Amino acid sequence: MRTPYIGGNWKCNGTVESIKQLVQDLNQGPSTEGKVEVIVAPSSIHIGLVQSLNLRKDWKISAQNIVQEKNGGAFTGEISASMLKDLGIDSTLLGHSERRHVFGESNTVIAKKVKVSEEVGLTIIGCVGETLEERERGETNQVITSQLKDFNVTNWDKFVIAYEPVWAIGTGKTASPQQAQEAHKVLRDWLADNVNSEVAQKVRIIYGGSVNSANSDELIKQPDIDGFLVGGASLKSKDFLSIVNSGLKSVE
Ligand code: PGA
Repeated sequence: MRTPYIGGNWKCNGTVESIKQLVQDLNQGPSTEGKVEVIVAPSSIHIGLVQSLNLRKDWKISAQNIVQEKNGGAFTGEISASMLKDLGIDSTLLGHSERRHVFGESNTVIAKKVKVSEEVGLTIIGCVGETLEERERGETNQVITSQLKDFNVTNWDKFVIAYEPVWAIGTGKTASPQQAQEAHKVLRDWLADNVNSEVAQKVRIIYGGSVNSANSDELIKQPDIDGFLVGGASLKSKDFLSIVNSGLKSVE
């Protein structure tokens, strides 16, 4: 039995006021302690704010990205794995499709980020996903397994896979539970064939792409869907708490 993992990716959103309200409201939700792991990923400029607002202790704060050099240095505009560790932040998203497609991050750069995260001991939420064109050409399985391979993971204990079909992100178009399950199964089979069966059974594979309070119950019922990475709906406390509740119900 894998502990469900649910992440809220706030992306580049929020004001001091809206974040104060969001944290206050999220802190009212039922405890997830020992049942569901929950992280929220504010923009890096808001990480300190969320810490100072005393986000509930059963949830953790994650970064959205890091630079590929462990200790940073001359990298204008970036944040480093060491800075996160120093601040008490112990996870980061990596390889999000917006990083890949808007900022042109290559698999090579992403693999370097995985390496420095592992060196520092961060948990990684590594994102994979095909574009609509790739899906239509029948390349989904090949694309997502090669992205998974290219992370070059060495410590699977600190790695969560997020399957996020690019065509479903921020579009209101969710993958059907069957489509998502199929892709998750492909990823789990890849782990069994290329790492080992113990890792394949242990690693959480979460789904992202227009997850909301109306579709989370059905999605998490699928045998290989272990939680969610939520964008838009994670900015609304009621919706995000309801998605977290789907996770809680799934382990009842
Ligand atoms: P969305 O974003 O929920 O707004 O589709 C998901 C993500 O990008 O992680």
